[in-house]
Amino acid sequence: MTADVAESVRGRDLLAYRDEFPLLSNATYLNTCSLGALPRRGRAKLHEFLDQWERLGASAWYGHWMAELGALREDFGWVIGRPGSEIALAPNVSVALASFASALDPLHRGDEATTRALGEALDWRPSRGAPSRTRVVTTALDFPTLGHQWLARSPLGVELVVIPSPDGLTVPLDSFASAIDERTALVATGHVYFTTGAVQDLPGLARLCHERGALLLADAYQATGLIPTNAAALGVDAYVSGSLKWLFGGPGTAFLWLRPAVRQALVPTTTGWFSGSRQFEFDVASLEFADDGRKFEMGTPAVPSAFLARGGMSLVREIGVEAMHARTVELGASAIRLADAAGLEVRAVRDDAQRAGMLGIRSATPRAVVAELAAQGIIVDARPDIVRLSPAFYNTESEVADAVEAIARVARAGP
Ligand SMILES: Cc1ncc(COP(=O)(O)O)c(C=O)c1O
Repeated sequence: MTADVAESVRGRDLLAYRDEFPLLSNATYLNTCSLGALPRRGRAKLHEFLDQWERLGASAWYGHWMAELGALREDFGWVIGRPGSEIALAPNVSVALASFASALDPLHRGDEATTRALGEALDWRPSRGAPSRTRVVTTALDFPTLGHQWLARSPLGVELVVIPSPDGLTVPLDSFASAIDERTALVATGHVYFTTGAVQDLPGLARLCHERGALLLADAYQATGLIPTNAAALGVDAYVSGSLKWLFGGPGTAFLWLRPAVRQALVPTTTGWFSGSRQFEFDVASLEFADDGRKFEMGTPAVPSAFLARGGMSLVREIGVEAMHARTVELGASAIRLADAAGLEVRAVRDDAQRAGMLGIRSATPRAVVAELAAQGIIVDARPDIVRLSPAFYNTESEVADAVEAIARVARAGP
């Protein structure tokens, strides 16, 4: 933690925000990496949507909702250090990925114009007679939907390469280095891995990809709202994330950001009428893409979810990502210390600078442990072989201690 951030965490009472989250008075909630708790202002925003719909019907689109969608693009742009005009909204990360993946299909086929345009965007000169870029590289620690986009394209000749994690926690750059070659179109991996909390070195990985003419996409679902980010400075070409977890905005809203040169070089082959530059001319016979982030949008957005997401974003903007991150990492470190002391087997990155919002405690029966804790009002999560804990800025040291103690009690009692 830097001195400035430490000061900002101490200097402000983050726990005063607990009252924003009614869930926290009913349960010990340590599962933000699955679903952030609902803030009161999210509920208020949803009511605002309902009131507008009830009062105005379709006029709400022009009077309010299009502006709200624009404001949400600005919010998402702000949280990744980019202008809102570079953001494409999507209902979930899978749709955002599908739209991006569709634009790579011509590259996989060896289409010359796409290969040339991307080469220029990456400052890369393809050698004569180079093979088509049919491969996408991901890792064994990544969220399934990331690999699934390209597994679903295997009938088109796309091959998914899955790199193992040598320690079950991280995937070092060396492992990527041996997997990326002139057949690689894309490396798609997490900014933060969803079971281990390990932070990936994206600038280093971007250099590695670009030296070999491959694109880099980061799935930032477990990073956005937690890791202070400037997507362009990370060097990534594509960045996807959403409101569900560390943005406290509930399901139904996600986004895609593309580096502007890459966005210009790519043309989606899966689309919808919100991506057009002349959307309200209703011309079925022509398609001109918007020249900003909306190029990768699809159809009618989930407006109630956009309102909810704006409620969460107002909180994130007010508190600031640095303060949330510092407190989250501090609570994670406490959980690791307590679990070590209780003799539990911790599966987490030890270095605070390399760990984000979650840690695992090894268990042979994680689902049973999660159910036992839920019966005691402690909400944690199960993933294969681990009980996953994710303290957030709104949790207390004693909540973390209670959860670790409850896990230790269940472990002592045995199966
Ligand atoms: C790293 C990561 N990516 C993606 C998702 C979800 O993807 P989608 O929005 O398509 O459901 C999650 C969690 O739900 C996640 O943890």
